[in-house]
Amino acid sequence: MSASNADLRPVAFVTGAANGIGEAVVSRFLAGGYRVAMVDLDAERLTETRHRHDPGGERTIEIVADVSDEDSVENAVTTTVNAFGRMDAAHNNAGITSSGPRTHELTRKAWDRTLEVDLTGVWLCMKFQISVMLEQGSGAVINTASIAGHVGYPGGTAYAAAKHGVVGLTRSAAIEYAPTGIRVNAVSPGPVQSDMMAASLARRGPAVRDWYYNNSPTGRFATLEDVAHAVHWLASPEASFITGHCLSVDGGWTAQ
Ligand SMILES: NC(=O)c1ccc[n+]([C@@H]2O[C@H](COP(=O)([O-])OP(=O)(O)OC[C@H]3O[C@@H](n4cnc5c(N)ncnc54)[C@H](O)[C@@H]3O)[C@@H](O)[C@H]2O)c1
Repeated sequence: MSASNADLRPVAFVTGAANGIGEAVVSRFLAGGYRVAMVDLDAERLTETRHRHDPGGERTIEIVADVSDEDSVENAVTTTVNAFGRMDAAHNNAGITSSGPRTHELTRKAWDRTLEVDLTGVWLCMKFQISVMLEQGSGAVINTASIAGHVGYPGGTAYAAAKHGVVGLTRSAAIEYAPTGIRVNAVSPGPVQSDMMAASLARRGPAVRDWYYNNSPTGRFATLEDVAHAVHWLASPEASFITGHCLSVDGGWTAQ
């Protein structure tokens, strides 16, 4: 066993770690004493983000991977286990949005890519993570769904189809693995202040921005940290009897 494998600090695997919610989750896991495998498609941004949170590079590794590519995901999981010896928490968070066009205006290319990243990417990550967790006899998977995984999202039908899929995947896998010590949950954020949201609002204009605010009972967007705290808690022993749950981090949006 290598020195790092003898290290008892827990290990988290986070996709979409270079930016937004994923970056905030990396920061929260580091604050909670974890070592973290940071996974993202954007190599340059990943290195910048890693240096910001772990300047010495002792508690993190960076892995460039496309979550929609099976070999890439298998390699990311293997690299993590080789480096850290285990995987206690996995946050499958990388995602894209194709919001804007209505259903009949969507291109096949946009539909396919949204489903590949936002749904197939989550399944591929789970496939390889759960194999590791089964050998350990423990582990917590947290997927990033969305309010669009629970209610309709006009102008975002591909995204909503993918996120509804993430909810079904999460609940089904939770039941499959409940007897094994592996928990599978999701967070379902409402609108979050991130680059993805900023790009979407810039593309779709003030009417969509007003729609978000008018439908937010709290009158605000989620912060990145609002979501990160929920992910960290779902991974923790305090959530040890919680599986198959999609935790709304939406300021009451889906309570309406
Ligand atoms: N921002 C919101 O309002 C909001 C609301 C609900 C759910 N979400 C979900 O939260 C997650 C994170 O969103 P965000 O707002 O932080 O977005 P973001 O654009 O700020 O960050 C997403 C990260 O994922 C990475 N990524 C994209 N495609 C990838 C791929 N194929 N493989 C690996 N990495 C990839 C990007 O490089 C980026 O670093 C997404 O799943 C998104 O659908 C966001």
